[in-house]
Amino acid sequence: MSRAEIRPYRPGDLDALYDICLKTSASGGDASHLHAEPRIVGEIYAAPYAVLRPDLALVIEDAEGVAAYMVGTDDTVAFDARLEAEWWPRVRPLYADPKDIPFAARNADQQRAARIHRPIATPRPLTDAYPAHLHINLLPRLQGQGLGERLVTTWLDLLKARGANGVHLGCSAGNARALRFYDRYGFRRFAVDPPWPGTVWMVLDL
Ligand SMILES: CC(C)(COP(=O)(O)OP(=O)(O)OC[C@H]1O[C@@H](n2cnc3c(N)ncnc32)[C@H](O)[C@@H]1OP(=O)(O)O)[C@@H](O)C(=O)NCCC(=O)NCCS
Repeated sequence: MSRAEIRPYRPGDLDALYDICLKTSASGGDASHLHAEPRIVGEIYAAPYAVLRPDLALVIEDAEGVAAYMVGTDDTVAFDARLEAEWWPRVRPLYADPKDIPFAARNADQQRAARIHRPIATPRPLTDAYPAHLHINLLPRLQGQGLGERLVTTWLDLLKARGANGVHLGCSAGNARALRFYDRYGFRRFAVDPPWPGTVWMVLDL
């Protein structure tokens, strides 16, 4: 395959998803240097979606392999319940719970491990009005070519086919490129009370 092509996720893509997630999770940049545990970020933001909702998982593959993915769910509250029943029990034994380490002293792995052991639910006003949510991640070699927009459009068509009428996402406030991308696509900011420091919530009516 020479041209980059969007296709449905296959189980053999899972390792690539973990890798892409790590390399794009520091406000859009490479987080490899922050983590001794290379899969810990993907355990939260990539793998469970591909495993539990493969019907809503797309990848982009080029000559070098899978280099982008888009995943999500049409029902965030139901998905969180499935995580608790089917995903976290598998993942929690792999990462020590940092509950005895003061918050400010936790390293990047321990901050992620805390979220694995004690997930924080998305604010209810968001999930009530915009039940679906998404994650999109392209490695640098695929960025800046219009592929992000093609991937979002293809994925939203899948979502609409399932009857969804609203989708939200959480973006790091420091990820200026992604915020510009979502603004251009038509997402708008959604204020939550109390605010989530460092997170910008965005929504789109479908
Ligand atoms: C954020 C992200 C999804 C955006 O996807 P992208 O395809 O790189 O989109 P961009 O808007 O950055 O690139 C489009 C650029 O390509 C250019 N472009 C080139 N050919 C194009 C085409 N055929 N169609 C549209 N744009 C094209 C556009 O002009 C635009 O340039 P500009 O930003 O200077 O205006 C992607 O950069 C990414 O995955 N980043 C890392 C992970 C991340 O941050 N994810 C979001 C977490 S919330």
